[in-house]
Amino acid sequence: MFNSETYVQRQQELLKKVNSGIILIPGNEESPMNYTDNPYRFRQDSTFLYYFGLSRPGLIALLDTGNGRVSIYGNDYTVEDFVWMGKQPTIHELAALCGVEYTGSITDLYNRIGQANKRKEAIHFLPQYRSENILKLMDMTGLSAQEIKAGVSVEFIRAVVSQRNYKTAEEIVEIEKGVDTSVDMHVTAIKMVKPGMQELDVVVEIEKIARATGGDISFPTIATINGQTLHNHYHGNIIKEGQLFLLDCGAEIPTGYAGDLSSTFPVGQTFSSLQKDIYTLVLKSHNACVDALKPGITFKEVHRAACLTIAGGLKSMGLMKGDTESAVEAGAHALFFPCGTGHMMGLDIHDMENLGEEFVGYEGEPKSTQFGLKSLRLGRALEPGFVLTIEPGIYFIPELTDQWRSQNKFTEYLNYDEIDKFRNFGGIRNEENYLITPDGKRLLGNKKKPMLIEEVEALRK
Ligand code: GLY
Repeated sequence: MFNSETYVQRQQELLKKVNSGIILIPGNEESPMNYTDNPYRFRQDSTFLYYFGLSRPGLIALLDTGNGRVSIYGNDYTVEDFVWMGKQPTIHELAALCGVEYTGSITDLYNRIGQANKRKEAIHFLPQYRSENILKLMDMTGLSAQEIKAGVSVEFIRAVVSQRNYKTAEEIVEIEKGVDTSVDMHVTAIKMVKPGMQELDVVVEIEKIARATGGDISFPTIATINGQTLHNHYHGNIIKEGQLFLLDCGAEIPTGYAGDLSSTFPVGQTFSSLQKDIYTLVLKSHNACVDALKPGITFKEVHRAACLTIAGGLKSMGLMKGDTESAVEAGAHALFFPCGTGHMMGLDIHDMENLGEEFVGYEGEPKSTQFGLKSLRLGRALEPGFVLTIEPGIYFIPELTDQWRSQNKFTEYLNYDEIDKFRNFGGIRNEENYLITPDGKRLLGNKKKPMLIEEVEALRK
């Protein structure tokens, strides 16, 4: 946790940004795996963590814009609970850690909400992603699930985004711890992969590194010889000589901040010549994005730089044809790059995705509906303090190629006969995390993940 002053300052700023009524921030509950007493690892809600830093199930915060009072509600554990859990701090003791003076039980909270309902005070809440919290809000407010969904407070969403999008120096320190641990995970994997291993052998080894920080992985690990599948969570394949191995994984450190990195490396000691060609092109597009990063540029433009580089390179290799700018405008390159170049990162690897990408990444503007571009999570103008990922890639997805070919899609831009030769190639992506600074950008992490061909191959020897 940070010092209490950090949380008080965040709470006070939020109170200034929301005009009237009460603000409710439900923390998360335990999430059972197969019966109530057998839960998954507890993960606090990131917005609750941001304003209060407390990682304990069953808490709900209420900020009253009328009198500026901030309260945390929850039921204290009893001695019977201590028998199983050991002695636990009271909610009042926990609240003091984040500068909150007022605490109460869940019954007290229901009474306060009842009062708000009677007085017709506005009740602000965010979009909810856990059913327990939807049920709680339904119970407290008397609204239906549909009304809860429709009744989220855009004013509150915008307020949270306007705070959490700008990372402070103390947050950057935490994010860099997450990034450094993520680098350790990648270097370990690059060194250890051998033909004959199962993908799972790699996963088990690298996830230990994240757990050893006292935190955990920041999202389900992607460690695969089928890198063409963007979010491949299957780890059952045997790794074979000559293949490419794509790793996309990261660590979340105990304060909740995350790293999110990707690497692609050969299963053998060196890349094949064809693998080198595509890898070099992915690197070129990566560097084009990094070069473009600065305050004021929109991330849509950064993404466009990636797409143009990829399309131009594939044209010179004979896989694409026609005018490169028109091909990208039409979305033909999305056959190879059907996703976005990056996303915001912080307490979530897709930071605040639960609040809506249109608010976090598009300042309230609607996203494109074009295949490929619709998966770009971030499009807005960049500002100092933003933390984001850069991760363009090239993927050969046989099912997508076959579908587009059967539809004669973009035949003016795509050489399907040439593309077919890459059916078993897989996919390549590299990923780094950047901070936007007043005069440009800074690569995050005190450790550097190898990315140049010679750096990667040196680790494979
Ligand atoms: N690196 C995983 C993701 O961006 O979803």
